[in-house]
Amino acid sequence: MFVLDAWYVAAWSTEVSREPVRRVICELPMVLYRRTDGTAVALTDRCPHRGSPLSAGRVVGDLIECGYHGFQFDCSGACVRIPAQEIIPRRARVHAYPVVEQDGWIWVWTGAAERADESKVPDTHWMSDPGWATVTHSYHFACRAELIHDNLLDLTHESFIHLSTVGDDYIYEHGVEVQVDGDIVSVDRLMPGVEAPPLYARTMQTQGLYDRFHCTEFHAPSFHALHSGITGQGRPREEGFLIKVMNAITPIDAHSAWYFYAFSRNFGVDQDWATQELVSGLATVLDEDKAALEWQEIGLQSRPSHESDVLIAQDAGIAKARKVMARLLAAERAVAAT
Ligand code: FES
Ligand SMILES: [Fe+2]
Repeated sequence: MFVLDAWYVAAWSTEVSREPVRRVICELPMVLYRRTDGTAVALTDRCPHRGSPLSAGRVVGDLIECGYHGFQFDCSGACVRIPAQEIIPRRARVHAYPVVEQDGWIWVWTGAAERADESKVPDTHWMSDPGWATVTHSYHFACRAELIHDNLLDLTHESFIHLSTVGDDYIYEHGVEVQVDGDIVSVDRLMPGVEAPPLYARTMQTQGLYDRFHCTEFHAPSFHALHSGITGQGRPREEGFLIKVMNAITPIDAHSAWYFYAFSRNFGVDQDWATQELVSGLATVLDEDKAALEWQEIGLQSRPSHESDVLIAQDAGIAKARKVMARLLAAERAVAAT
């Protein structure tokens, strides 16, 4: 059901410390903590002894100790101490998930460790680049991760649910160009000679007509970089007010997901009032998305299995992304079957 040979954001760097924290990703329970040198560790959050979550225990040096009978595990997942006996059974070990920490996010590889490829962690450098200012949020969505992907791949919903912030009629009035490059699906919309949406116009301190654009770049199966902004009419995008929205979507199970969100901008970088306005405006946007998608999840749970989505031209990115996801899943099943 989930693409497992992939990097998923498990937590913000600030959430992981010397206190163990539990996360469930693709139905896999994990405990996250930091070693004495600060390196983040992710292990299966289930003690092999009798199943207690290790996250209910404590960190001792670089080890994690189960709170129930004191078994201790090192960062490779091997049990290194059983207080009640000398002999350590070979099966007394947990899986150690490969971890990459980058730009404030902790990514974990949920597939076979030998296939973990750090070069596949998406580029998120805007989050830590001092030339950009970043506003962040994280949300729990009570809906399947696919609905968040679809939501980001078809931004015409902004015209209807985000009217006070980032939405207006210009969006659905302009079509999209869709491209597929390996596991990346790009959905680009150019809106020439239009006004900036309300939240952007306020924080960019601008008015009048601009070429507006947004390009959702879906790195299947877990991440979207949204390249957005406005520029002078007929001018290159790079000259304009630029926004990079990084959306890491991490499935918890079949009906819920984490949404890690970072909004970086190259304008008003030192203006705290703009940052504060974006913090609250973008929380409104995410609250609206959460409400819409949780309603959609309720709608879908009662949909008969013989019915399916009636996609329209604006859903072209969704259609392509579903094909990529299906290909990734099929490839994993083929490997699992060998
Ligand atoms: S369940 Fe973990 S030590 Fe017994
Ligand atoms: Fe939205």
